[in-house]
Amino acid sequence: MWVPQYSGHAQPVYLMIADALEQDIGSGRLNADDRLPTLKELAEALKITPGTVGRAYDEAAKRGLVVGEVGRGTFVLPAKPQATPPVQETGTSNDSAQIDLSIIKPNDANFGTWLRDSITELAHSTDLSRVLDYATDGGHAVHKQAGARWVQRSLPEARWQQIVLTSGAQHGLLVAISSLSKTQDVILCEEHCYPGIISLAHSLDRRLMGVQIDEYGLVPEAFRAACIEHRPALLVCVTTHQNPTNSIMPPERREAIAQIAREYDVFIVDDDIYGFLESQTVHRPISAYAPERSVYLTSLSKSILPALRIGYLYAPPELLSRLSSMVRSSVWMPSPLMAQLASNLINSGMGEQLVKEQQQEAAARQQMAREILGNYQISSQPNSFHIWLVLPEPWSCDEYANLARAHGVTVVSGSQFLSQRTTATRGVRIALMSPSRAELHFALTKLASLLASPEPRLFY
Ligand SMILES: Cc1ncc(COP(=O)(O)O)c(C=O)c1O
Repeated sequence: MWVPQYSGHAQPVYLMIADALEQDIGSGRLNADDRLPTLKELAEALKITPGTVGRAYDEAAKRGLVVGEVGRGTFVLPAKPQATPPVQETGTSNDSAQIDLSIIKPNDANFGTWLRDSITELAHSTDLSRVLDYATDGGHAVHKQAGARWVQRSLPEARWQQIVLTSGAQHGLLVAISSLSKTQDVILCEEHCYPGIISLAHSLDRRLMGVQIDEYGLVPEAFRAACIEHRPALLVCVTTHQNPTNSIMPPERREAIAQIAREYDVFIVDDDIYGFLESQTVHRPISAYAPERSVYLTSLSKSILPALRIGYLYAPPELLSRLSSMVRSSVWMPSPLMAQLASNLINSGMGEQLVKEQQQEAAARQQMAREILGNYQISSQPNSFHIWLVLPEPWSCDEYANLARAHGVTVVSGSQFLSQRTTATRGVRIALMSPSRAELHFALTKLASLLASPEPRLFY
């Protein structure tokens, strides 16, 4: 029978037993699949209570050393690989000459540690077998409950029964737009909008119309006029850190737009993917003002990790079956394995901690951008992941983006965000979070110097 060797009183007995267990596994005294003594056997051998042995085994299970099997006992697990290759931290080094400021994503300098730990914990947990199979009804209840916890950061009233799991926000947009409108329907969006909406509307054969925006987002009277003229099926909008123009819509405007949607019987697809960066007590989502006709949409791509591909829709009960059946038609179900990983991150509080870290990182980068580009017209928010730079005369946005690329910095020309090609734009979107801070400083300085150069030209 295995009996741990320990001495001293430096720490509680249960921790000394767990440490001894870890050491004995490391030294080969205990091997994978060895059965440990029962609580009673070990308690008698050590003259301690079975409760203390139980705590020691729980601690060892937390460390991924053992697993308890009901009715069979506690067994040693195979050792974790010792030299895990480090997760590539793309934010800290860049082999290519280009510095990529084109994609809005969280800074990934710290992905390595918590991601490795979360995956290892899942691999050793009893949840694993459950999430390797198909999930019925659009996802496991525990995954919807974790999703509700995340959505409650913005909508405290959210009930888990009204959550629909998606494979990220782009999939959420597909599910919402295709469920709430039909072929050739008009759908409205901001006149500068996230390109994923434009390509989706075209693939689904919807007629996309852009509504005028200003520095506070959609203009309510322009929305009303579009409702009267085009009789749209739905409006899709990003009211917090609008992509690309970075506006935040004030509460009165959210309420006014929700009211107009109600008057003209228009659904609202409330893409709140960046809402986690702001305090929701100040910025209540637009869907909260017309919950009966809104689908609230978010994902963990910007707050935690793009590769999770897990998102959440929150909708009124009468829309749930339409939305869930579209999830089934499109992907059967989002991966339960990834949904479990996402749920663990949310339930353990790690998700919340990562959000705080991203907010702090974004704040430092925004400050840097304001210092370097502050002489130009930029739209920024203290915590946002990107800025919108309105170019001075005589620049055109395509010309500037091309020239920036030729100088080693990739930004996105405003023309990519035009919901209709007839609108003009002078902006470029600059995403701040992907490179290291030093690379970002270098890239922003280059972008500013291009603006300051007299008539720069490309040589072919
Ligand atoms: C406004 C907006 N909605 C949706 C998405 C898609 O997010 P996901 O990666 O979760 O599919 C993005 C990604 O950039 C976005 O900016």
